[in-house]
Amino acid sequence: MRIEIFPDLQALSRKAASYIVEEARASRDRPFTLALSGGSTPREAYRSLADPSFSSLMPWKRTHIFWVDERMVSPTDCDSNYGMVRNLLVSHISVPPENVHPFAGDLPSPEEAAARYEVELKEFFQLGRGQFPEFNLVLLGMGEDGHTASLFPSSKALLETRRLAVPAHSEKPPHSRLTLTLPVLNMAKKIIFLVTGKEKAYTVKRVLKDPREASPLPAGLIQPSLGRVLWLLDEEAASQLRPVRGI
Ligand code: 6PG
Repeated sequence: MRIEIFPDLQALSRKAASYIVEEARASRDRPFTLALSGGSTPREAYRSLADPSFSSLMPWKRTHIFWVDERMVSPTDCDSNYGMVRNLLVSHISVPPENVHPFAGDLPSPEEAAARYEVELKEFFQLGRGQFPEFNLVLLGMGEDGHTASLFPSSKALLETRRLAVPAHSEKPPHSRLTLTLPVLNMAKKIIFLVTGKEKAYTVKRVLKDPREASPLPAGLIQPSLGRVLWLLDEEAASQLRPVRGI
């Protein structure tokens, strides 16, 4: 696990975009599979990746975009993770439409939407029974409570060991969510966390410094068996990781 600290969101986001390009170009895989999170932190990284200085370097024809999680809302809803990525990234790049794989957040039931996404993953990755997809790169955020994706502390979704995608409940609206499960995330070849803000500094410290805590936080359970984990933090989110200078 590696940690990189940046002065601000802008610098962090440009580095995230450059890592996505680096991973895509270095991957031998046909296709390059990328799973993106929602929320607010990664927005700037998606804008950076859509900028020609980065997007012109991406092998979009062989890149497939998936989502880490979604809210049970229509794609045009301002809370839609698909809608956010479409507006900031997908509508500005030359990725073939068939390479974009959103959750169907507008289906009548989250169970049906999760089951449909599982079928799509199984077909795309040609998975056999009990197999999990190996994404080339997964972008994750982390909430103040230590959740990641839509895997919230003490949630049923966090305990799922067989299914690839499940419904989830968020205390914050929209309450009904869909999420990839822990076994899927932990099969990724590379995971990049994007975390900023002073309000997350204590949780960052707990996850990164006290991982053996009795009840590890969901973000602390992201320990890919073979994959590498990189944490991109701004100074504020990293502020409890280092001894306080000057006293
Ligand atoms: C979502 C995200 C979620 C997010 C964290 C952090 O659908 O909201 O996937 O898991 O990564 O809540 O959100 P911020 O980056 O907005 O703090």
